[in-house]
Amino acid sequence: MGIVIYHYPVPAASSVKIMIEASAPAKIILFGEHAVVYGQPAIAVPVSSLRATANVAANNPSGQGLRIAAADLNEVLPISIESEIVDHSLAATARLVLKTLKATTPDVTITLHSAIPMASGLGSGAAVSAALGRALSAAVHQTIENETLNALVYEMEKTYHGTPSGIDNTVIVYEQPVYFVRGAPIEKMPIGAAFTLLIGDTGQGALTKIAVGDVRKLFEADPERIQPILDEIGALVKRAKIAIESGEISELGPLMLKNHALLQQLTVSSHELDQLVEAAVNAGAAGAKLSGGGRGGNMIALVTPESSENVRQALLNAGAVRVFETTVTP
Ligand code: PMV
Repeated sequence: MGIVIYHYPVPAASSVKIMIEASAPAKIILFGEHAVVYGQPAIAVPVSSLRATANVAANNPSGQGLRIAAADLNEVLPISIESEIVDHSLAATARLVLKTLKATTPDVTITLHSAIPMASGLGSGAAVSAALGRALSAAVHQTIENETLNALVYEMEKTYHGTPSGIDNTVIVYEQPVYFVRGAPIEKMPIGAAFTLLIGDTGQGALTKIAVGDVRKLFEADPERIQPILDEIGALVKRAKIAIESGEISELGPLMLKNHALLQQLTVSSHELDQLVEAAVNAGAAGAKLSGGGRGGNMIALVTPESSENVRQALLNAGAVRVFETTVTP
């Protein structure tokens, strides 16, 4: 029996009993997106309150093979050509997991839910792949090591991104803050003091692959101009690492603003992102920047308990379709 993907609700699997639940978090990039593709460091943290989950239930009646139900993954993307891409990726992920584990196809239904907005720089694709990988491994009675899962999710990221740096899958699979350098061993980052970020969603889906491709064109057309921008981003990421590890949170705001300005020069910001960044700062955020691929998607703002509500309101007034709060803790 092959792999069948259903849109929710799953037909004919009545009175299912959930056997396993697996999940993976969203992520945000704090510093260094895009430059990371060119070997510069970047810092990313998981957002554990926003998750993709995968429930495994025995098929009833049995003998139906592996069924995957994408419960609410079309929340942002309508059922269209885009959702075909989602379907294809899920099937490909499942095949890759089974091949990696040398397992035969189990007779189960895996239902995926995701609270992570899609195509918005929060790592929704990687989180869904990771949750599915974990659930499917459990369904075939195997434990998948994070290292194996990370490599596998990276393979899937290639279908979304083209040439991903690997930062998304790493932070999502290990669910820990990471200081990431392409090709280097994973460096988990200690956090010196807690800090809180608001995540403001422009509501505009944007494909990372396109933004990354455009930066590549820019780089190839004029490396003498672009390389110093990438180097400058790398240098500020190193300063941010020291500030985060030593708990000097007041250093982060100006570094975020500088990073945003450099991303503007790489042409990956947008009018909406710039508006949200400006609104956050005017409302008292210590710093703000776009996060992820850009051109839409999300931005982040550094807030305190005193400024948080003001900044949240300002983001909503400036056009954010939703605002999440996340605290990075030691
Ligand atoms: O998935 P996103 O949109 O958060 O983008 C990932 C970050 C980039 O640096 C733009 C691309 C990459 O592969 O690192």
